[in-house]
Amino acid sequence: METKIFQPFLLLFLAISIPCLSDASHEEHARKTMEEFSGYPADSPPHHYSFSPSSLSVDIQGLQRQIEELSSFSDAPAPAVTRILYSQKDVLARRYIKSLMEQAGLSIHEDAVGNIFGRWGGTEAALSAVATGSHIDAIPYSGKYDGVIGVLGAIEAINVLKRSGFQPKRSLEVIMFTSEEPTRFGISCLGSRLLAGNEELAIALKQAVDGKNISFLEAARSAGYAVHEDDLSSVFLKKDYYFSFIELHIEQGPILEEEGIPIGIVTAIAAPASISIDFEGNGGHAGAVLMPARNDAGLAAAELALAVEKHVLDSGSFDTVGTVGVMELHPGAVNSIPSRTHVEIDTRDIDEERRNVVVNKIHQSAVRIAENRGVKLSKFKIVNQDPPALSSNSIISTMREATKQLNVSFKLMISRAYHDSLFMARISPMGMIFIPCYKGYSHKPEEFASAQDIANGVKVLALTLAKLSAE
Ligand code: GLV
Ligand code: MN
Ligand code: MN
Repeated sequence: METKIFQPFLLLFLAISIPCLSDASHEEHARKTMEEFSGYPADSPPHHYSFSPSSLSVDIQGLQRQIEELSSFSDAPAPAVTRILYSQKDVLARRYIKSLMEQAGLSIHEDAVGNIFGRWGGTEAALSAVATGSHIDAIPYSGKYDGVIGVLGAIEAINVLKRSGFQPKRSLEVIMFTSEEPTRFGISCLGSRLLAGNEELAIALKQAVDGKNISFLEAARSAGYAVHEDDLSSVFLKKDYYFSFIELHIEQGPILEEEGIPIGIVTAIAAPASISIDFEGNGGHAGAVLMPARNDAGLAAAELALAVEKHVLDSGSFDTVGTVGVMELHPGAVNSIPSRTHVEIDTRDIDEERRNVVVNKIHQSAVRIAENRGVKLSKFKIVNQDPPALSSNSIISTMREATKQLNVSFKLMISRAYHDSLFMARISPMGMIFIPCYKGYSHKPEEFASAQDIANGVKVLALTLAKLSAE
């Protein structure tokens, strides 16, 4: 009985579902065709732009020529690059960047410390802009690509979008940050820290001097900045001034190259700290002062350097790193016991607390070594002790979508180097795109990224900017 009652329903079900099944496969076919044609997945909200992602084309030869040209503004012989904040070469390099921004049709402005902004106005100018950028200053004897790819590559990403006929809804802005490297005034990411509204830094910079006792303001003025103002708080930007911030950068590590993956999408930036230390002893004649009578500031520094290594290794994690990158002996003569030493230490971790434990242990060691050696610990200054930063999940998904549409594979990864993005994340949702670099080399002249990898990075950046601009 029951079967009889249900038979008509069964027939009805089959009559409805068979066309449904074929509709489903037809739909799937249509979706695939749409995806191939439009270049974006039909099941994610479409962004409104008039180009197909696969048609984006990077002028890689032009970009490589610019990388070479920029590298010639250097105080070190090629292939090494040294470009220190507000030096003559830095000023020339800044002019070069502004000329490229101008050629790209961007409207340019600079703030009191020389952060340079180039804007492509969107059709809805009242909306917050999407920003991208990096730095062009280079530590002594470094390479051509660190930071540079994120500035020249960003200008090229704008050119790529312009050539494609794209019109941004939100304005797009390229930023060249002042002094990401701490070389001259000991302060890393000086420009982006200030943009993120660091009051303490704005005050400290009024007193800051470099190794030659030139004040920050004097140096800035010599480069044409802060001419009429001492108050650097004019540089601060309000939280959410930008809709989003993206930085393109070489990985500065070996993972992408080793694994043959063209794009890294950064999920977090490790927590850096840096410490500045001075020891003072009596010095004296290298022959006449017998060993028991010495209080050698050089040996105190050397012992501290080994203690740094020990504390870092004792953390038990290979994510903890520490470097004594500066050790200056005074007076620096072979037959004179060092009477003063200046030491600078950099330590980092993806785990902030573990990094802080290392910083505390370094302090304890410095005190103990000074006592044991009869020298004075005349300075122990934590120059910065920054927390890590997380990328925005929504920017990560946009970047993932961009890689998918461009048909390039990616890997999620953390950044062990710091970047201006660490500070931009305080005022804006942030994301970073990494490209491979040769053997992971960075901060040395052998630094290199291939044309193909740079072109991929610029395309992913361009498409990500286009998507974010349309939101
Ligand atoms: C940036 O240059 C860093 O040292 O991580
Ligand atoms: Mn660097
Ligand atoms: Mn960099």
